[in-house]
Amino acid sequence: MRDGDLSEALLAWYDKHARTLPWRVPPGADERADPYRVWLSEVMLQQTTVAAVKGYFITFTSLWPRVEALAAARDEDVMARWAGLGYYARARNLLKCARVVADEFGGVFPDSAEALQKLPGIGPYTAAAVAAIAFDRPEVVVDGNVERVMARLHGVQTPLPAAKPELVALAAKHTPNTRPGDYAQAVMDLGATLCTPRSPACGICPWRAPCVASAEGIAAELPRKIPKKPKPIRHGTAYVIRRDDGAFLLERRPDKGLLGGMLGWPGGHWAEQAPSAAPPVTAALEEVGEVRHTFTHFHLILSIQAGEATAITEAPDGLDWLRLSPAALPTVMRKAYDLAATSPALGAAKD
Ligand code: ADE
Repeated sequence: MRDGDLSEALLAWYDKHARTLPWRVPPGADERADPYRVWLSEVMLQQTTVAAVKGYFITFTSLWPRVEALAAARDEDVMARWAGLGYYARARNLLKCARVVADEFGGVFPDSAEALQKLPGIGPYTAAAVAAIAFDRPEVVVDGNVERVMARLHGVQTPLPAAKPELVALAAKHTPNTRPGDYAQAVMDLGATLCTPRSPACGICPWRAPCVASAEGIAAELPRKIPKKPKPIRHGTAYVIRRDDGAFLLERRPDKGLLGGMLGWPGGHWAEQAPSAAPPVTAALEEVGEVRHTFTHFHLILSIQAGEATAITEAPDGLDWLRLSPAALPTVMRKAYDLAATSPALGAAKD
C-alpha cells in the first residue's frame, strides 16, 4: 500500500471505531476540539492509562471548565484533585502553564507545536499531540502505542529504546496532511484496542495486509525491549497520628522531588538501609503493618506507625495538624492512611 492509502484505510477504520473519550470530539462532528481540554487530557495521559484519567478529567473540567478558571485555582486544591494520578510535577507545571496562557496569551493556547513547546510542562510529545488534535497540524505524534504499531507494521527488530529514532521516522512517513489530528488519535486507538501489547487482534486490523510482523506471525513479540534493571528496594517509616479533635499531623512535601507539593505523613527519608525515624511528636504509637508501593525508580516498603495524640500537642516546624480528606493524599500516603484507619491504633473495632 502507498503511504496515502495506509492513512486512508486507518481513517476509515477510525470513522467507525473511534473510542468515545470525554476529551474527544468524534470524527465527522462539526465542532473543533477545545485546545484547553486537549492539553489537559494529554498532560494527564502522560505515563497514565486512559481508564485512570477519565474520572480525573471529568472532575477537573467540571471544577475548572476553562483555562482562566484553572489559572485562578489555589495550588493546594489542584494538587488535592490530582492526588492518585502520580507524577506530581505534572500538576505543578499544569498550573504554571495555565497561568501563563491566562495571563500572557489572553487565555488562548498558541496553535503551533513550536510555540506550545515554550510553555511550562509541554515537551515535544505534548506539543505535537495538542497541535495535531486541537489545531489539525500535521505533527508527528509518537507515544508508546504508536511505537508499537510502527515496530510491527515495519517489522522493526531493533529493541527499544534504541529503536526510537527509527520508529519516529516511520511515524513521520505515514503522517498525512489531510485530517492529521484524527490520524494521530486513530493510531493511538489502533494501538490501544487492536494492536495491543500481548494479544494483537490482527484478524480485524485495517493494517493487516501491509503489516510485516503480522505476516511473519511475530506481532506479539514486537517491539523488542532491552530488559530493564531490577528496581532497588527502599525502606522508611510513616507516622499516622491523629489528635483527639480529629486532625492529622501532616507535612506538605517540598515542590521539588518525589511527590513534590503533596501532603504526606511525617517519618524521615527513605533509603535502602533507613534507620527508623523518631516519632515527630509524643503519642501512644503502635506499628500497624507495612505498605508497599512502586515508584518509577524503586520499590518502597513503608513501616506504618499509628496512634493518637492529645489536643495540646503542638505541630513541630514544617508539620501541621490538618483536617484530612484522604482523597487528597498521593497513593502511597493513602495506602498508609487506609491501613492505619482500619487498625485498633486509631480506634477501629477489633473483630
Ligand atoms: N493517549 C494519549 N493521548 C491520547 C488521546 N488523545 N487519545 C487516546 N489515548 C491517548
